[in-house]
Amino acid sequence: MNSNSTSDATESHRIVERARDVIPGGAQTGLRAQAYDTGEVAFERAEGATLTTVDGDEYTDYHLGFGPIILGHAHEAVDDAARRAIDGGVLYGAGTAPLEVEVAERLVENLPSIEQVNFCNSGSEATYHAIRLARAATGNEKILKFEGCYHGWHDYVDISVYPPEDQLGEQYPESEGMLSSAVENTLVVPFNDSEAVAEVFREHGDDLAGVIFEPVPHSVGCLLPQQGFLDTVRELTAEADVPLIFDEVITGFRHSPHGAQGEFGVTPDLTCVAKALGNGYPVAAVGGREDLLSQAGGDNKSGVVISGTYSGNLPGLAAARETIDTIVEEDVQGYVTGLGDEYRDGLRDLLADHGIEGRVVGHRSIFSLQFGVSQEPENYEDILGLDEELFREFAAGMRERGHFFTPNPYKRHHLSFAHGAEHLASYLDDADDVLANL
Ligand SMILES: Cc1ncc(COP(=O)(O)O)c(C=O)c1O
Repeated sequence: MNSNSTSDATESHRIVERARDVIPGGAQTGLRAQAYDTGEVAFERAEGATLTTVDGDEYTDYHLGFGPIILGHAHEAVDDAARRAIDGGVLYGAGTAPLEVEVAERLVENLPSIEQVNFCNSGSEATYHAIRLARAATGNEKILKFEGCYHGWHDYVDISVYPPEDQLGEQYPESEGMLSSAVENTLVVPFNDSEAVAEVFREHGDDLAGVIFEPVPHSVGCLLPQQGFLDTVRELTAEADVPLIFDEVITGFRHSPHGAQGEFGVTPDLTCVAKALGNGYPVAAVGGREDLLSQAGGDNKSGVVISGTYSGNLPGLAAARETIDTIVEEDVQGYVTGLGDEYRDGLRDLLADHGIEGRVVGHRSIFSLQFGVSQEPENYEDILGLDEELFREFAAGMRERGHFFTPNPYKRHHLSFAHGAEHLASYLDDADDVLANL
């Protein structure tokens, strides 16, 4: 046990109590508030792989802000680049800055589908823009998405991400207050189900504006695309001339600088990137075929409007340029993939040693431990039925021993360039102990 405290008398507890008065739920999102499940948590520092609370308790961070931190927290070169940009002014909001061109050129160079690119500040904005571009190009309204895939909070896509079992196969709105026509126009099928996609094309092919998905859905831990599934979706969309949108908000720059599209050899028409693109700075992009993107090159009186006061803000772009260069020059993905394999192998051995039913899923720098289920999941339905309570107990035990990840059983651990052999050894040692006591 380390000295991490979960006592109610902590400064962390007092901050969270104050927060609950003035911030709904006490945190910026419901998912963030779930960190309270294993105790009150207020953080005030992060460096390398370490996250520190207002009480000075230190944790090895496997949450990494839901994934953006690929190089480690407070990465010196990235932060220096952002600071230099700040010194030259944060935002111009007119014309073009050289940094925009430099980062756009790097995206074109690295991601096979990207011929042109527009910047924005979050993954949700990127998927919103991609869908508008697709609708404008086709003149159609319907979008096809997959159960268990998250593409942001807006009405077009916040549908059937975590549907309850009795809502499988339905268009399940994740939030109250959503526009019913948006929900009706978003069709949903199971991931990895080529036949269901083909059926949608037979029935709605003439009305489809686009197909959007995470090529490796990590919003529910990790689903891996089965052999041929990505190719089938690519063929069906190409035949029907319906834009295929890869949401690479997690996979792009975390799994590979060339995205899942580079890894699996399937090139979409539009691509959304965010998260690891800027190692934590708010920077995102929608890119793709020139004929689709150039619809947005107009004068706001014609074509597609893509807009945003903070789009192309200089610190975000400077962080992105430095992050991309570091990832490419230092083979960050080679390193974090090797480390990910060691965590996954180690956890699988521990489950076997302790005779606990569970599975370790993941890809490259991402992994999840799921209890009460053992077969490799193919789609969202295979995620249902995992033992949520046992995972929360595991998360609480690990947190007491100095390892932080969200106690949400459907989420995932992330690794960064700042994680090393010492973190691996201590994680597996402590996991051994916690699993023995579950
Ligand atoms: C795959 C995917 N797409 C889109 C988004 C939305 O990104 P943001 O939270 O930056 O709006 C997320 C966020 O978690 C995501 O994981």
